[in-house]
Amino acid sequence: MYKDKILNLLRSARSRFLSGEELARKTGISRTMVWKHIKSLERDGFEIEAVPSQGYRITSIPDILRERDVKQGLKTKTMGRELVLLPKVDSTNILAMELASKGSPEGTVVTAETQSGGKGRLGRTWISPKGNLYLSVILRPMIPVHKAPLITMMGAIAVASAIRMVCQVAAVIKWPNDILISGKKVSGLLTEMSAEQDRIRHIVLGIGVNVNMELEALPPEVRVLSTSLAAEAGGRINRTLLLQELIRSLERWYQVFLANPPEVLREWQKLNMTVGSRIRVTGAGDTLEGLAQGIDDDGRLIIRLNDGSIRFVSAGDVSILKRARGN
Ligand code: BTN
Repeated sequence: MYKDKILNLLRSARSRFLSGEELARKTGISRTMVWKHIKSLERDGFEIEAVPSQGYRITSIPDILRERDVKQGLKTKTMGRELVLLPKVDSTNILAMELASKGSPEGTVVTAETQSGGKGRLGRTWISPKGNLYLSVILRPMIPVHKAPLITMMGAIAVASAIRMVCQVAAVIKWPNDILISGKKVSGLLTEMSAEQDRIRHIVLGIGVNVNMELEALPPEVRVLSTSLAAEAGGRINRTLLLQELIRSLERWYQVFLANPPEVLREWQKLNMTVGSRIRVTGAGDTLEGLAQGIDDDGRLIIRLNDGSIRFVSAGDVSILKRARGN
């Protein structure tokens, strides 16, 4: 608590020095205790300049998501009103599912700086080094179970829009829920659900975005297909601003989804680069090749196979064999 007070005072002072005496007076503790808290802040990654006759000032803030920063100017009604920001967790999706079953409200956002057991689609691992965004959002929509894939599509629109807004890069969606820039994956979404019969108890929308990571942290076979926002935008990205825009974008698109689900399908079509392309689908049963013709009202991909027959696919990995013209 005293440490937070000292941090707030130093942050408000910006580049101005605050003496040990002033910090002691304003917090009501001794100068020795002030010094101990300064040392502890340094261990947390803050760089603090100490000049004998002038006092202390912060020269560098660690790149860690903090509740106070994320909430500043956020102005959302539901999304991100409850924030759980952690240094490390096995998987934000696992924790968010636990919190949801214990009654955490809709819009609760769980983030972690790093995950030890990040989950990807189709039972894969999501490698989660520091420098990126890993978040999970609790949702409680009153929709039938078969409409749940639309939540992932809504999430993909929200992610692509936030990336476009903050980084000014042309992020597109590859079915079902990958976000690509220049043909390489920058973000993936994993939706998990607790449901009974035809009623959804809660949904957790998990989002991983490669933001400032070193791409060398990925194994070579994943690296060749991946990119990061920093690599595409040509410089480090402020993760707090990106997270804030993502939370706002999720609130906007979730409201659109609840009020008018076809609007989500229309926007998804505008941002997607799969429909109209010749594709191969693997990872969920047979390998299929053909033309991606569209998506149906439940978000399934409609493929015209090379023999002219039509297939509806609800899961799998898409490789683009020949991109649609104009994409
Ligand atoms: C994919 O395979 O493309 C989906 C990846 C989803 C990763 C995110 S990171 C935050 C959340 N927590 C997890 O364990 N997985 C999702």
